[in-house]
Amino acid sequence: MAKVLLGFMGVGKSSVAPYLDGRFVDMDQVIEEKIGMSIADFFAKEGEAAFRQIESETLEELLQEGDDVIISTGGGVVVTEHNRQLLAKNRKHNVWLHASFDVVYDRIQKDSKNQRPLFLNHSKEDFKAIYDGRMALYQDLADLVVIVDNRTPEEVARFIKCM
Ligand code: S3P
Repeated sequence: MAKVLLGFMGVGKSSVAPYLDGRFVDMDQVIEEKIGMSIADFFAKEGEAAFRQIESETLEELLQEGDDVIISTGGGVVVTEHNRQLLAKNRKHNVWLHASFDVVYDRIQKDSKNQRPLFLNHSKEDFKAIYDGRMALYQDLADLVVIVDNRTPEEVARFIKCM
């Protein structure tokens, strides 16, 4: 089964890629290739619901790619019930990268190359509510939890490789 990296925006799902064995696929990159624009532009043009639809289709496709694939998901993949059902079937292979809110908020704020629409469109308080609401969803699906605060991507990858 595919190894799936779950976790809130900014936890570093894509940064661990170079340190992992296997074929790494970044779901957001696949989606951007499909839609032919940045996710931020797509949110602005088509809205979040349209994005979630494509995200779901992409997850379903990628989960069928075979055992050697490592999928880095977008942080919101868990908000869609259908995705949670798909991920629940991927038991034993779901890794949750967990970071505290202050760490992810700081990283996202500084990440000018990857402007997250949900960050841009919400107050800090509302963004924290999104973070809080998602924690239980990741937790329900996770077979391994890696606390990433104060850990380098290389260290995080070492935990994942032990799985
Ligand atoms: C989202 C997370 C983003 C991207 C989109 C929506 C979310 O991915 O899929 O902006 O709802 O949490 P990252 O987790 O890679 O930032």
